[in-house]
Amino acid sequence: MISRINKIGILTSGGDSPGMNAAIRAVVRTALYYDLDVIGIRRGYEGAINGEFIEMDRKSVANIIQRGGTILKTARSQAFQTPEGRKKAYDQIKAQGIDALVVVGGDGTFTGAKVFGEEFDIPIIGLPGTIDNDLYGTDFTIGYDTAINTAVDAVDKIRDTAESHDRVFIIEVMGRDCGLIALRSGIGVGAEAILIPETKTDVPHLLHRMEVGRKDKSSKIIMVAEGGEGAFKLGEIIKERFPHYDTRVSVLGHIQRGGKPTCMDRVLASRLGVAAVEGLLEGRRDVMAGLIHGKVEFTPLDHAIKHNKEVNESLLKIVEILSL
Ligand code: F6P
Repeated sequence: MISRINKIGILTSGGDSPGMNAAIRAVVRTALYYDLDVIGIRRGYEGAINGEFIEMDRKSVANIIQRGGTILKTARSQAFQTPEGRKKAYDQIKAQGIDALVVVGGDGTFTGAKVFGEEFDIPIIGLPGTIDNDLYGTDFTIGYDTAINTAVDAVDKIRDTAESHDRVFIIEVMGRDCGLIALRSGIGVGAEAILIPETKTDVPHLLHRMEVGRKDKSSKIIMVAEGGEGAFKLGEIIKERFPHYDTRVSVLGHIQRGGKPTCMDRVLASRLGVAAVEGLLEGRRDVMAGLIHGKVEFTPLDHAIKHNKEVNESLLKIVEILSL
């Protein structure tokens, strides 16, 4: 491998996701394997601006593969959205002798990385770290598998109450503008219906199905993605239309972002972390490392954030068939 890279900086940015630590570990250990130095940048782009740098060695990433959150901490930096903030970050990074960056995060992180890479001469590789799974160029993002398993665990518990009390539960899961957490976890819990922002006609269809559906089934789980109709609004609509149902709304919230990463997320983070460093050494820049059909692929950062992942229609059909 031919490279002019000697020192890599790594940061995590945006919402934390389980597996970010496994990604940091993989990047640090791969860099050391190839005799590169690694600097950890704390609090994402905010830390770059403020000069929050720490040297990373083998030990600094010991015993973190199983931990949720991010040891480097994270932030959503307002200052980095300004040219002055980015210039300050670049000057700080250069003063450290960092000649390439690995950034772990979601669309906001990659939007920042793209602009930074255009303004300054520094190779950047992104790793998809978000529970939302809303990036194009990877089948799954780091943290998604853990989040859907957390949601499934929580909803299984709520199902006990739904069954015992004959209740309808509307459960809101995370996923800003994206229904993929709702879709998979909904199938995993055997939800009666799943509402996602990608399919706008959901509510009338749901009401119709409740009307014509089984009358002997008084407990129901309806999964709703936070970016869609809104669980509370839907709760009101259902209460009004079906006053005989005992209806409750439950918002799972940030428990979905925390906790031990699943083995799937640890392996994904490890593979992509290795790929990021090797990609930089091969001269790649301004791309995201992702896994498509089991193979590491690199996708330009602006493709990763601009192209919406298509919702797999067959998964929606599965809900329709199985919830009868
Ligand atoms: O992008 C991850 C995510 O968890 C989204 O699903 C959610 O909308 C958002 O972050 C919430 O962010 P925060 O609570 O950190 O403001």
